[in-house]
Amino acid sequence: MERTLTIIKPNAVAAGASGRILDRLIAEEFVIVALKMIFLSRNDASRFYAVHRGRAFFADLVDFMTSGPVIVAVLEREDAVARLRRVVGDTDPPKAAEGTIRRLFGVDKTQNAIHASDSAENACAEWRQFFAEEEIMIP
Ligand code: CMP
Repeated sequence: MERTLTIIKPNAVAAGASGRILDRLIAEEFVIVALKMIFLSRNDASRFYAVHRGRAFFADLVDFMTSGPVIVAVLEREDAVARLRRVVGDTDPPKAAEGTIRRLFGVDKTQNAIHASDSAENACAEWRQFFAEEEIMIP
């Protein structure tokens, strides 16, 4: 069984879409093994997106991710990383496939509703930023 990290981003939380997004993830047979609502500090967001530091969109991304609460969750299922990325859709919501979460709830490349880790290795590093070992359910 594989695990991945998701973040329901400030625009989706503010729009009241968190419940629908979590329902969708459960319908896609992800098991939620850790979940919390938090405010990211600028330091948290800069660290999380450190790989994008220096890109033109970095400052806007940090501003946005610290603009309101987010919901972070660790999700488990077979092939979790690839499966979540498929359900989430393209970074740019208008380009995302019909029915994907970003197509349904995203606004633009920054306010794109949800994060999905891009590899199992990165997922693990990402959830360690938000969850202590004892906050993650052990099957
Ligand atoms: P996310 O999946 O959370 O991981 C990296 C984020 O950087 C991505 O979602 C987008 O929100 C953001 N991003 C990536 N490329 C661009 C871009 N060209 N313009 C604006 N934001 C971007």
